[in-house]
Amino acid sequence: PVPEPAPMTGDLEKVRRRFKEHGPTPEVIAGFRDLVYGYYDAAGRDFPWRQTDDPYHILVSEVMLQQTQTSRVLAKYGPFLAAFPTLADLASAPQREVLAAWQGLGYYARARNLHRAAKTVANDLGGRFPETEEDLRRLPGVGPYTAAAIAAIAFGRKAAAVDANAERVLARLFAVEEPLAEAKERLRELARGLVPEKRRGDFAQAMMDLGAGICTPRSPRCGLCPLSSQCLAHRQGIAERLPVRRAKTPRPTRHGVAFYLERPDGALWLRRRPESGLLGGMIEVPSSPWRARAFDAAEARAAAPLRARWRTLPGQVRHTFTHFHLELTVLAARVGVERAAGLPGMWAGLDGMSHLALPAVMKKFIRHARKVLA
Ligand code: ADE
Repeated sequence: PVPEPAPMTGDLEKVRRRFKEHGPTPEVIAGFRDLVYGYYDAAGRDFPWRQTDDPYHILVSEVMLQQTQTSRVLAKYGPFLAAFPTLADLASAPQREVLAAWQGLGYYARARNLHRAAKTVANDLGGRFPETEEDLRRLPGVGPYTAAAIAAIAFGRKAAAVDANAERVLARLFAVEEPLAEAKERLRELARGLVPEKRRGDFAQAMMDLGAGICTPRSPRCGLCPLSSQCLAHRQGIAERLPVRRAKTPRPTRHGVAFYLERPDGALWLRRRPESGLLGGMIEVPSSPWRARAFDAAEARAAAPLRARWRTLPGQVRHTFTHFHLELTVLAARVGVERAAGLPGMWAGLDGMSHLALPAVMKKFIRHARKVLA
């Protein structure tokens, strides 16, 4: 059972001013903590990464959760750890296997960084997993949030792990009205003031669960929230419009030409992208550079990596990355077996492709071309 909230006393204006000047009082903080634990014990989510204290497993889950929803992570976490059960297994695996196991999670830079992090711990740190926020931050791909989450969850350290969910809970609890971009540091500060002495990992994850299940971006379920009587935003009736977000700057569009080259047996010409940069180390169909200006028909042909009877397929393939939209024009051709054997790169049939680290945009491209050519 969730304990009864200790009601926040005094009139709203006074409480607001007191919070602004001094932050929450120790009694209010103690009340929060009890309520948060009560909620977690009664209604916290039961994830496999909460059944372990292996810091490597927790690292894997936190990196997956950085940009991927819990439902999708749930499908990928078990198979990934089955492929690489220990940090040493991951550290000694070839990168292409790591990228292949990351399929379906997107944002593959995370997989490359996770792999590098495992190598760092295994090779440079003698297998000793870093335990403090500061040392964790030195690992590739581990930012302030992830370092704090691992420090709190795996090692019980005093660290404020504020993900987007917890950020929203805090912004509402303390009615922080500055736009999120500017308020981030203040929210972390407020979170630091709440970190308890015991069960620090549970506390951090309880705040995330509150944000995910109750304190939702739209239509927060304040009626079910254990903190509602303490929540300054709820008491002022402004919970739903916090935290304040600035309008996003629109994404630019880039254009490219991609080349669908088939062998008589239907295998497709592919290559590996350079290690660094967008989609680094992943497999792609060859394409022109992606640029701001669209390609006309002559430019598209001139961009081809080899002479063949290219024909322009109808339609374009559109894909949205974090920082831009991409529109690909599709040129298709066939080459004979001998010529194919002389080309650099690789050939894959439909079966072989499922084992390759093909990013979503390339899968979309291949589906499109096959449909048009069928
Ligand atoms: N998002 C990031 N880390 C998480 C965790 N440990 N539990 C649930 N959601 C999360």
